[in-house]
Amino acid sequence: EAPAVSPLAAHVGKHPGEPNVMDPELVNDPFSGYGKLREQGPVVRGRFIDDSPVWFVTRFEEVREVLRDQRFANNPAVAGTEPGDDPLSRMVEVLGIPEHLRVYMEGSILNCDAPDHTRLRRLVSRAFTARKITGLRPRVEQIADELLARLPEHAEDGVVDLIEHFAYPLPITVICELVGIPEADRPQWRAWGADLISLEPEALARTFPAMIDHIHELVRERRQALTDDLLSELVRTHDDDGSRLSDVEMVTMILTLVLAGHETTAHLIANGTAALLTHPDQQRLVTTDPGILPRAVHELMRWCGPVHATQLRYASEDIDLAGTRISKGEAVQLVLVSANFDPRHYSDPDRLDVTRHPVGQAENHVGFGHGMHYCLGATLARQEGEVAFGRLLSHYPGISLAVEPDALERVPLPGSWRLASLPVRLR
Ligand code: HEM
Repeated sequence: EAPAVSPLAAHVGKHPGEPNVMDPELVNDPFSGYGKLREQGPVVRGRFIDDSPVWFVTRFEEVREVLRDQRFANNPAVAGTEPGDDPLSRMVEVLGIPEHLRVYMEGSILNCDAPDHTRLRRLVSRAFTARKITGLRPRVEQIADELLARLPEHAEDGVVDLIEHFAYPLPITVICELVGIPEADRPQWRAWGADLISLEPEALARTFPAMIDHIHELVRERRQALTDDLLSELVRTHDDDGSRLSDVEMVTMILTLVLAGHETTAHLIANGTAALLTHPDQQRLVTTDPGILPRAVHELMRWCGPVHATQLRYASEDIDLAGTRISKGEAVQLVLVSANFDPRHYSDPDRLDVTRHPVGQAENHVGFGHGMHYCLGATLARQEGEVAFGRLLSHYPGISLAVEPDALERVPLPGSWRLASLPVRLR
């Protein structure tokens, strides 16, 4: 039975033999569902949410190859597709996003290619260098410690929802402080984020315009009084020289940073905590040697990272990929979750092993993507993960799940792995 998540599931089962991203088998158990596709081949024909054909790229090497290959474009227009005649535009149409707001989706760093992408990325990457992120660490630790100290206040019958009171507030506080979203507005962003990922037309129709208005308002406020946050920096760049950053691009960038910067990280913290609590041997390794945390976070990103697929890519010319001809304009879906469990790349991929990644080695997974659009916030997200797991386990060494692992409820959406809640006992 199709998961009742949105009208988008309407096309499930229409093309036997061509898996649809909304198939219950793929939504409910992506690890085994996409794992089966990976063993069918490196490039498998399937269907996107709107029923349009898409090629799933399922194996580690091929996923990285496509993400490095600039002939695969993020913007369908580059691939010669008629405006509106691509899976994403059709989905936006089904979801009822008004015409005048679509530019804010198209203006996103994630939907464009060089040279626009290079220009946009350069404008924000300065705020996310390793040095800048290391400088934020004490503040991240402080926020984590404050949240952890208050956890017992939220317990009901000894049980606390760790997503509500820790995994979510930590990254939203960090990204909002960095960007410059006032504290009073943060609960509103949480509600908006939930609306967006719900893919419910009604929720989107309500939320998307409200977010855009809200950001325009913040921009107006910064124009009155610039500060040292990222918002002010973007406003300054835009006002100095509109050719470096247009109005729509500025608003979309702020939207992207806030949304991409907290939801995903919250679920890395939640999924990773659930993984450690259900693997006591791995939890013990992390507790006894906190120096292992950076490697542990690499492994948790691989094993239970929250993002299972990238944006679609479009072939800008006919391309041969691992023996399959991808025709110009066709869409490709990079399946990060099957790549991260590819037995051609990892030995014993199903095993969670926080010592898997050698000391000092760069990450060896595609949970943050790869290539040009590699996650801008990866260093920040990893640091938040290290702080979150390290501080949580040292504050509450006796922490345990309050339900059986099988009873943990998931948000049944394609392309991601999110728990609906994470009930724990602190001791
Ligand atoms: C891009 C995952 C945290 C900002 C990406 C991509 C992935 C990803 C897979 C590439 C998408 C594609 O190629 O289609 C994650 C995960 C995170 C996380 C799993 C947390 C665990 C963050 C944070 C920020 C952020 C904290 C805050 C700034 C971005 C941006 C892009 C991006 C701006 C687009 C980059 C570009 O197009 O050049 N992320 N992300 N992400 N991420 Fe993250």
